[in-house]
Formats: sequence, C-alpha cells, structure tokens
Amino acid sequence: MTRSMKWLGLLATVGILVLLAFNIWREPTRRTEAQAAYRATAIAEGTTLYALYCAECHGAAGEGLNNYPSLDQAFLRQQDVEVLYKLVSRGHQGTDMAAFGLQEGGLLNRAQIESIIAVIQHGSWAETSQYVFAAGFQPAASVGDSTDFQAVYAAANNDPNTTLSTGRTLFASVCVECHGANGEGTADAPMLNSVYVQSMSADQLLSIINFGVSGTKMDTFRERFSLEEKAALIYLLQHWNGATVVVAPTPTIDTSGVTVSGQVLFEKWCAPCHGVRGEGGSIAPQLNDVPPLPTEFIMTRVRTGKNAMPPFPLTDLPDPELMVLIEYAQSNIFGSSLPVLTEAELANAATLYQQQCAECHGMQAEGTAEQGPPLIKTPPLHANYIVYFTRFGSANTPGIPASTVSDADLQLIVAYLHSLGIHK
Ligand code: HEC
Ligand code: HEC
Ligand code: HEC
Ligand code: HEC
Repeated sequence: MTRSMKWLGLLATVGILVLLAFNIWREPTRRTEAQAAYRATAIAEGTTLYALYCAECHGAAGEGLNNYPSLDQAFLRQQDVEVLYKLVSRGHQGTDMAAFGLQEGGLLNRAQIESIIAVIQHGSWAETSQYVFAAGFQPAASVGDSTDFQAVYAAANNDPNTTLSTGRTLFASVCVECHGANGEGTADAPMLNSVYVQSMSADQLLSIINFGVSGTKMDTFRERFSLEEKAALIYLLQHWNGATVVVAPTPTIDTSGVTVSGQVLFEKWCAPCHGVRGEGGSIAPQLNDVPPLPTEFIMTRVRTGKNAMPPFPLTDLPDPELMVLIEYAQSNIFGSSLPVLTEAELANAATLYQQQCAECHGMQAEGTAEQGPPLIKTPPLHANYIVYFTRFGSANTPGIPASTVSDADLQLIVAYLHSLGIHK
C-alpha cells in the first residue's frame, strides 16, 4: 500500500468518526452525552496521532513492541491525566521515550497529548488497532511524512523568493481570515508574525498545520496542501519579521552594478556611530553582540531611522549598495563577538536556562503571565544588557549574583537565548 493510500484510509476512518461524533453532538443532549461526544472527538483525533507517533514502539493495540512497555494497563487507565501529560510531554530521560511536548522541543501541543491520553484511558484498544492497521501501519515502518517533508523543505529553502511568494499567496487565501493580513492576529486567532512562532522548528509547524489544534478553530490542513505548499507556508512563518509592522517581501535587488565592497560601505555609513567592528560607540549600540537580524528589519531601520539614528535616503545609499552593505554586516558584524556553541554546549545551556530562568521567563523565553517578561525580541536583547540586567535586576526583580549563576554559565544562557531568536 502506498503512503498516500495509507493516509487516505486513515483520513476516511477519522472522517467517519468525526461525523459520528458530530451527529452525537447535535442531538439534543444532556451534559453527559455532550461529554461523551467531546471524548469521542478527542479519541478520534488521538487515534490518528497515536498511529503516527506512538504505535511504532507501543504497538497498534498498545501491546508494546520489541520490549517497549504495554500501554494497555489498568494502572494507566486510572492514572491522573496530569501525570500522564507530564510523562508524554517531557519523555523519560535516558530511555527511548522522547519528549513529545511542544515546549520540550517535541511536536505535540497540550490538546493533542490529552487526546492521545483519552485513547489510552478511555479508548478501546481493539478499535484503535483496527484504525491503525486500516491506515496501513506496519510495525517498524517509518510513520508520517516527515522524511519526505525534509527534502521538500530543503528545496524550498534553496529558492527563497519563489517560496515566499507561494507562501504569501496561500496565506492570503486561507489563513488571513483568522490570523490577519500580516499575521498580526485577530480576535479569533493568535499572532503568527512573532519571534515565538519563528522560533518553532519546521517539524513543529508542520505538525500544527497538519493536525491543527484540537478544541480550537485551528483546522487540520493535512490533506488540503501539498508538501511543497506546506513548506512554503512554513518558510513564510519562519521568515516573517518579528515586529507587528507590515513587511514587504524582500525585493530582489540587482547588486551586480555595485563596484564598492560591503566593508567600505559599512565603514562609510555605519561605522562612525556603530564602530568598524560593530563594537558600538558613545551614541550607537553595539551590533556585534546580537545575532544576525532579518534583512527586512535592517532595511526598514536604515530607511526610517530611530531616535539618534538618522534615516538614510535613497540618494545617499541606493538599494543595491544597501543590500551589499547588509550582506557584509550579516556575515561579519552581527553576532561576531558572540561565542559559537557546540550542540552539547547548547544543550547544557538550555538546561541552565531552564533551571535558573524558565520559572519566570517561560520554557521558550516567551514570558509568563505573572512572573517575568519575554526575553526573545526583535531586535534581540544585547548580550551585555542581558548580563547587566541579570546581575543588577531592577526595582521589580532582584539581581542574581555570581554565586548563584557563574559568569561562564551566564554567557551560556545568553547564547542559548540568542539561539532561540536567531533570525535568518
Ligand atoms: C521510540 C519508542 C517510543 C515511542 C515512539 C513512544 N514511546 Fe512511550 N515509552 C517508550 C519507552 C522506552 C518507555 C519506558 C520508559 C521508562 O522506562 O520509564 C515508554 C513509556 C511510556 C509510558 C509509561 C508506561 C508505563 O508503563 O509507565 C506512556 C504512558 C507512554 N510511553 C506513552 C507514549 C505515547 C502517548 C507516545 C506517543 C505520543 C509514546 N509513548 C511514544 C518508548 C516510546
Ligand atoms: C478558522 C480560523 C483559523 C484558520 C483559517 C487558520 N488558523 Fe491557525 N490558529 C487558529 C487558532 C484559533 C489558533 C490558536 C490555537 C490555540 O489556542 O493553541 C491557531 C494557531 C496557529 C498556530 C500556532 C500559533 C502559536 O502561537 O502557537 C500556527 C502556526 C497557525 N495557526 C498557522 C496557521 C496557518 C499557516 C494557517 C493557514 C494555512 C492557519 N493557521 C489558518 C485559527 C485558524
Ligand atoms: C548617527 C549615528 C548612526 C549611524 C550613522 C547609524 N546608526 Fe544605527 N543606530 C544608531 C542609534 C542611536 C541606534 C539606537 C536607536 C534606538 O533604538 O534608540 C541605532 C540602532 C541601529 C540598529 C538596531 C540595533 C538594536 O539592537 O537596537 C540597527 C540594526 C542599526 N542601527 C543599523 C545601522 C546601519 C546598518 C547603519 C549604516 C547604514 C547605521 N545603523 C548607521 C545610530 C546610528
Ligand atoms: C523570580 C523570577 C525571575 C527569575 C528567576 C529571573 N527573572 Fe529575569 N526578570 C524578572 C522580572 C519580574 C523582570 C522584569 C523586571 C522589570 O521590568 O523591571 C525580569 C527582567 C529580565 C530582563 C530584562 C528584560 C527586558 O526586556 O528588558 C532580563 C534580560 C532578564 N530578566 C534575564 C534573566 C535571566 C538571564 C535569568 C536567569 C539567569 C532571569 N532573568 C531569571 C523575573 C525573573
């Protein structure tokens, strides 16, 4: 059976289930019936997700394959939902049980994990296995379209202009309705044009677009778009300027006529204030201690200016020269004073951040409602500022001394924060 047949099969079954659930829902009901219907919908969605993400190890009927544990157990049916949620969301370190929660870098949001828990606790394993097998599940076969997607996504990255214009067209026809013309969000749906969304991986975004967010208006678009179209939408979501301003697509600027080098241009127009290496000066901030900023952001800032930074008109600095200047700055100035971390160091840095800062600033530095503001912003917080603020605090929060977080650890935390908000 081909992959697409497998998915058609799965979709058809889930479709029937959803219809069933919908019909139950529509009957004039008492509360318990409504709850049952809600649960049926959750189980229908959970079954799809179970087939994709869990059956591979835990078996089509939850029986446990290859020594992986069985999920068909009374103690799991009676377990507190919150306990199971934490387990599935965070995984179990040192075993193959991965962390599936979005906040842990996994692919599933809370509602999705809860729907799988509904399958484990209230579903029928006999029925679940029927769906899983009807969907073409073969134990040990790779599930999902993630592998195919990676290749398509890589190809989309190679041709950013076409990809962005495809992404914008699709976004304008399907997503604007809820997320707003510039992804600024509406009463119905959150902002997408944000550093938070940009910081999600392509796989995480693919999962949201494929499966939606159950219990909300966010639809499932799995069958609606081709892989190419999904790649274009995801590319757009990741390359939107984080600011709420309308950002025109980066125009293709022909730089072939420019005879001056980017370095010469930078030194002429920017270095007097920002320093030749972007080290900053008495009027202007350092540029080398923030990660590379989006090209659109720099272009807008240079054309409009801000406070003591004057706007640069086209007559002084035509577009082609500005492009050459920005390309130089992206690879030689921005971020050049920041340490480059290995993956192991980055993992260590993430742990440090989670231990010391996440409680108040959120797992992904997105901020928490009560305790602390987001730490990912466009433009990103400067490294020196983060260090300074952490040490000295403010009227609203005490400083954190070196005896609690050493200088070296604080540098790692800064690098971790920058890696979350890195702009391409
Ligand atoms: C790559 C294999 C693998 C996949 C995929 C996987 N798990 Fe697990 N799972 C494990 C292992 C291994 C354990 C045992 C961990 C331990 O020893 O504590 C486990 C344990 C569990 C437990 C606790 C069972 C018990 O007896 O305590 C639950 C619940 C669970 N997994 C749910 C899920 C769900 C839900 C999914 C899909 C979202 C999933 N798992 C996907 C390997 C996997
Ligand atoms: C019918 C309304 C609707 C449409 C159409 C819609 N969305 Fe959504 N979307 C939502 C809602 C509501 C949420 C918030 C779900 C939640 O509460 O977690 C959401 C959430 C998201 C998120 C997660 C954002 C976050 O901050 O966690 C992404 C990404 C997303 N949508 C992308 C898209 C894309 C791409 C399209 C077009 C293909 C689209 N949406 C179309 C309503 C919609
Ligand atoms: C006359 C001095 C001056 C010159 C020349 C100048 N800038 Fe600036 N620049 C500033 C000041 C001051 C700020 C801080 C503005 C604010 O946020 O209040 C700034 C901010 C910025 C920022 C935002 C950095 C951040 O983290 O907030 C960028 C990007 C930037 N400048 C790029 C450039 C580029 C590129 C050039 C050359 C084309 C340039 N600037 C030329 C003074 C200058
Ligand atoms: C007990 C809660 C708490 C912890 C833990 C905490 N912070 Fe904060 N942080 C805050 C609050 C509250 C503010 C806002 C203070 C204000 O606006 O005056 C803040 C503000 C900041 C700011 C300034 C943000 C801005 O936009 O100007 C930075 C940078 C910062 N914290 C870094 C850190 C780092 C790094 C850690 C971990 C080493 C950390 N914080 C741990 C509560 C906390």
